[in-house]
Amino acid sequence: MALLIKGGYIVDPSQNWEGIGDLLIEDGKISKLSKEIKVEPQMEVIDARGCVVAPAFVDPHAHLRDPGFTHKEDIESGSKAAVFGGFTTVVSMPNTNPETDNPAIVEYQILKAQKVGLIRLLPSAAITKGRKGKELTEFCQLKKAGAVALTDDGTTPTDEALLRTAFEWAADCGMLIMDHAEIPALSRGHLNEGKISALLGIEGRSRGAEAIAVARDGYLAQITGARVHIQHISAKETVELLKLFKEKGINITGEVNPNHLLLTEEAILKYGSLAKVNPPLRTEEDRKTLIEALAEGIIDCIGTDHAPHAPWEKDKPLDQAPPGMLGFQIALPALVKLYGEGLITLKRLVEVLSTSPAEILNLYPELGTLKEGTTADVVIFDLKKEWIFNEEINPSKSKNSPFFGQKLVGKVIYTVKEGKIVYSYKS
Ligand code: NCD
Repeated sequence: MALLIKGGYIVDPSQNWEGIGDLLIEDGKISKLSKEIKVEPQMEVIDARGCVVAPAFVDPHAHLRDPGFTHKEDIESGSKAAVFGGFTTVVSMPNTNPETDNPAIVEYQILKAQKVGLIRLLPSAAITKGRKGKELTEFCQLKKAGAVALTDDGTTPTDEALLRTAFEWAADCGMLIMDHAEIPALSRGHLNEGKISALLGIEGRSRGAEAIAVARDGYLAQITGARVHIQHISAKETVELLKLFKEKGINITGEVNPNHLLLTEEAILKYGSLAKVNPPLRTEEDRKTLIEALAEGIIDCIGTDHAPHAPWEKDKPLDQAPPGMLGFQIALPALVKLYGEGLITLKRLVEVLSTSPAEILNLYPELGTLKEGTTADVVIFDLKKEWIFNEEINPSKSKNSPFFGQKLVGKVIYTVKEGKIVYSYKS
């Protein structure tokens, strides 16, 4: 079976390839990338003229809610939402019910995703049992079951001695620690601690809560040799710390969520609970710093933090609604917006959605690239295509996004996993 993607604008940061060309896929692998490939009778052809062709996106951070919260999303609807957004590889978060803290749940998630057959689901598992911060999970067994990383996402362990042991164990069994870096005692509130929280008289979440946790994580990585990845960075202080740690040669990486690139704390006034997320949307200065850091490489990649919640859960006052927003559907439009404003290059857009997260997850050079001989996970997207994010098009079970109902620019047209078309846009 051969698939020829013809005439697209190919962007592959891994080999500095940028320009019009053809891509041939045979038996699930990239077999040729070249300026022109002749059409043969046995080939299925996708006309990609006017579109960008790139390695498919890799998401290190998504909540698929399965098992336990399947009224919000499940592995099937989450897989559909992922490929809609151009993602073929997804790391799921462990705040399920029961928590993803044992091998049986990791195996269930992988098997269910394989049965759905759209994405490569790579579960993360909890650092502590029940994400309660008291007792470490069995890292090596979780790894054997297929977990790729460890995180208590939604919270972070507060016992530094326990966390040091966690970093040591993770280093021993070659697992990545991912951290929701917000010290709980300083982040009991519901939005950024600042002028809007003061105006509304609602408790805020301090930017210091993030900086202190990131400082802790960086130095723990230094003394243990573990690899740590900071999830959903929201504040400029984190960027300063990340830069410092990277200069010191510490094994640390970081991601930003598309919502933090597009919105600030002011969004709470317009969208209410729909704009509630942890860590919270912060100030315009933070937003600009995050964009610059992403463009320059201090922040390594995008993590969508796709966090579905049912309408009746979000439709509550700010202090009672759960935090989180959809991410898969808006990741590409968010980056296309930055590209349109001249804030990032097209190469960097592809890098932060694909090559860089693949590297962080040790999936590169098999994924995150269009090199000949590698797995044919490919995304084809139109930088100019306008579409409305509404019920008709949304594959997710939930619609909790400030962008729901709005016109967005930048649309995935095809998503290909291992040479098979797993999503195509019907306009
Ligand atoms: C996450 C969720 O909904 O699971 N929400 C969020 O605001 N990011 C959990 C979390 O990281 O707090």
